[in-house]
Amino acid sequence: MTSRPKRIGVLTSGGDAPGMNAAIRAVVRKAAYEGIPVSGIKRGYAGLIGGEIESLNERSVADIIHRGGTMLGSARSEKFQSPAGFKEACSRLRQQPSIEGLVIIGGGGTFRGALKLHEAGFLAVGVPGSIDNDIPGTEYSIGFDTAVDTALEAIERLRDTAAAHNRVFLVEVMGRDSGFIALAAGLAGGAEAVLIPEIPVGASQVDQLCRGILASFTRGKRHSVIVVAEGATSAIDLGRQVEEKTLLETRVTVLGHVQRGGRPTGFDRTLASLMGAAAVDAIINGQSGCMTAWRCGRVELVPLAEVVGQRKKIDLSLYELAKVLAI
Ligand code: F6P
Repeated sequence: MTSRPKRIGVLTSGGDAPGMNAAIRAVVRKAAYEGIPVSGIKRGYAGLIGGEIESLNERSVADIIHRGGTMLGSARSEKFQSPAGFKEACSRLRQQPSIEGLVIIGGGGTFRGALKLHEAGFLAVGVPGSIDNDIPGTEYSIGFDTAVDTALEAIERLRDTAAAHNRVFLVEVMGRDSGFIALAAGLAGGAEAVLIPEIPVGASQVDQLCRGILASFTRGKRHSVIVVAEGATSAIDLGRQVEEKTLLETRVTVLGHVQRGGRPTGFDRTLASLMGAAAVDAIINGQSGCMTAWRCGRVELVPLAEVVGQRKKIDLSLYELAKVLAI
């Protein structure tokens, strides 16, 4: 039998994602239910190094399940990656009241730090939170569903005006160097084309795109909405090329950080609640160096060593389907 941790810490690190608050709430309330006190660490690893730590109880996390952002704040800390910064972080955790278990909510970069903390002897469990959905080992990360919904709402508004003026619209979505948001929003939004970093965009692809747009107008379409992942190419540059080559009026909208904020969807709140509680269970059971993962409709634990430094593969059959359905 493993001994129960006397205290659990929770932090959010990297880019914030809608649903992170619901995950914090689940961690705090599940731990309270189990009789384990929780410390909230502000601004991710930066706040850990700086000792920005406060006790949280079940009332501290009231009224946050529906809010975007993260009540703990978030940061990307370069200092934590240095040996001196990491040592400072470890000694903060050992200070009284010491924190033996950690729930670390964030993305791939964040989990590199979680793995190091596990190797240093702390009970560290990751919870995937990133709008990009690029974390390997889990079908979904917290925030992705909301970001896709936000992109869809924008696409629908843009389609209205695109149709009114018979224009081409390029919508640039986030995703860093992966195309999960673009593909999901493009497929569900009925886009005429989707450009993702997993399929390089060279001169011949641009020509093909332009031919496709012209052909779709010939087939009777009144507008063309193209979803461009930020990691594929610059939508602004591409928009100029499309207008030059097709002679169709073309406009570009870069959605940017609006995709990061806002009210989390029901799915993201549920996922966050299940994962936050599962992370506390894992720590109580002495499991560490792992991440909660959504697989085939339930939460499982996967080793962080299988996640860190790996690239999540995109399902290219969705890309093909988006093309077929755009005729
Ligand atoms: O990883 C989340 C994300 O929103 C990416 O989609 C985007 O490329 C990046 O973060 C933006 O980072 P920042 O908020 O630091 O500009």
